[in-house]
Amino acid sequence: MAQWLDNAIFYEIYPQSFKDTNSDGIGDFNGIIEKLDYIRELGCNAIWMNPCFESPFGDAGYDVADYYKAAPRYGTNDDLKRLFDEVHKRDMHLLLDLVPGHTSVEHKWFLESMKAEKNEFSDRYVWTDNIWESPEGMGCLRGISDRNGSCAVNFFSSQPALNYGFYKPERPWQQPVDAPGPQATVAELKNIMRFWLGLGCDGFRVDMAGSLVKQDEDGKGTIRLWQDIRAFLDEEFPDAAMVSEWGEPDKSLQGGFHMDFLLHFGPSHYNDLFRCEEPYFSGRGKGDAGEFVKKYKENYDKTAGKGLICIPSGNHDMARLAAYLQGDELKMAFAFLLSMPGAPFIYYGDEIGMRYVENLTSVEGGYDRTGSRSPMQWDNTVNAGFSCAVREKLYIPLDSSPDRPTVQEQMADPDSLYHEIRRLIALRQAHPALQSKGKIDFIHAESHSYPLVYLRSMAEEQILVLLNPSDTPAVFECTLPLSEKLYSFGGDITAGEGKISVPAGSYGFYRTSPIQ
Ligand code: NOJ
Repeated sequence: MAQWLDNAIFYEIYPQSFKDTNSDGIGDFNGIIEKLDYIRELGCNAIWMNPCFESPFGDAGYDVADYYKAAPRYGTNDDLKRLFDEVHKRDMHLLLDLVPGHTSVEHKWFLESMKAEKNEFSDRYVWTDNIWESPEGMGCLRGISDRNGSCAVNFFSSQPALNYGFYKPERPWQQPVDAPGPQATVAELKNIMRFWLGLGCDGFRVDMAGSLVKQDEDGKGTIRLWQDIRAFLDEEFPDAAMVSEWGEPDKSLQGGFHMDFLLHFGPSHYNDLFRCEEPYFSGRGKGDAGEFVKKYKENYDKTAGKGLICIPSGNHDMARLAAYLQGDELKMAFAFLLSMPGAPFIYYGDEIGMRYVENLTSVEGGYDRTGSRSPMQWDNTVNAGFSCAVREKLYIPLDSSPDRPTVQEQMADPDSLYHEIRRLIALRQAHPALQSKGKIDFIHAESHSYPLVYLRSMAEEQILVLLNPSDTPAVFECTLPLSEKLYSFGGDITAGEGKISVPAGSYGFYRTSPIQ
């Protein structure tokens, strides 16, 4: 695993909405370059950028029409290369978003594959061999081609599924993973990766990484596919970093990924902490972190030493953190996010508490995700400093509330969320025990109970992290000494007579002695 992942802190950029420099109302590569110093100053040293390739944008770019070409609205391939170079100049790294599972219906491979005559791309997608037969358990496109068959889709109907084969083929049209069609798809995927890594990107966030091979219940076929890709990377680009949208780290890390996301869907209980009626980090103190910790521990035990579980503050697919938590609750959530193992991911704008914008008309397949994709709020100039375009041309309307947070205001206020996050990142970067590979032991993580307490350790260093989001003080039994305070917020934590007391709405980081 590339060494920079040991203390990587990622910033996710949704390029459409970050910074527009040519006044077309949509963000661009030059805008990102302009803001790299901002990201670095916050303390993030790595970037994940959502898809930026040629696309009809039916799903915000997750419907690629040409994997080898930057979407003109963001700039040229040369501009993108310049972005890689500028990132590296600042000792940062950038992951592109790779969408291996499907393309846009406008991709030339798909147009060829729709033809009745057999050609190079006939087997590039998952087609049945009869228009009246649909692929079991999947949506499909039918009646749109001269070819007699239905084509499986992965997500929206405009995203036909690329063919990586079936783990256990049953029907004549279901190809085994080692058939020439699926093999050609894998070879092309390697070419795409080779192309961008060769230009200077540092690796990939991989979209829907766990569902490439079909009828593959335990993921064995897909794991094998990624192992093959990892072998190629080890040979040609050994430092390439890979993070998967999979949510089953025991599988993804076996497949050679270094990192897997803890996802907001599936069995992770991530939403219990941040996004539900009573989130654990709300001051109401009615939340439950117990199930989350149980699940996290299960995954951690399966993966410790092999790779990283990455917990995001949010992403372009879920409601903003600030839709559920406000004020100091957000600081509390970040104290947690920035002190957990794995590489943290901060979704653009979450560092200033940007809100979920309600009641927006869907843009580019965003639907209810659109409210989390609104333009970054830099300052109080026109369009919040995002773009000089006329307001109607903005990609997504800005949060129109008069008190919307901005970077400029938060930078001027030492008590802002922005500054708290900077301090928490600086703390993490000063202590390897708090970084990606430091061990974690949960000390107090009972169900429906506060505080949440864990011990992070690396070599001789042991740091106790105590979080009490609730608006009542919390006491728990613990004999660990609070040897030295490294940082606290909201009041001082005290220890004595086998108990530790954590004031309401407070958190702290204390050096302690090893558990006997
Ligand atoms: C997951 C991506 O994060 C999401 O935005 C996209 O719509 C789907 N995958 C389909 O590619």
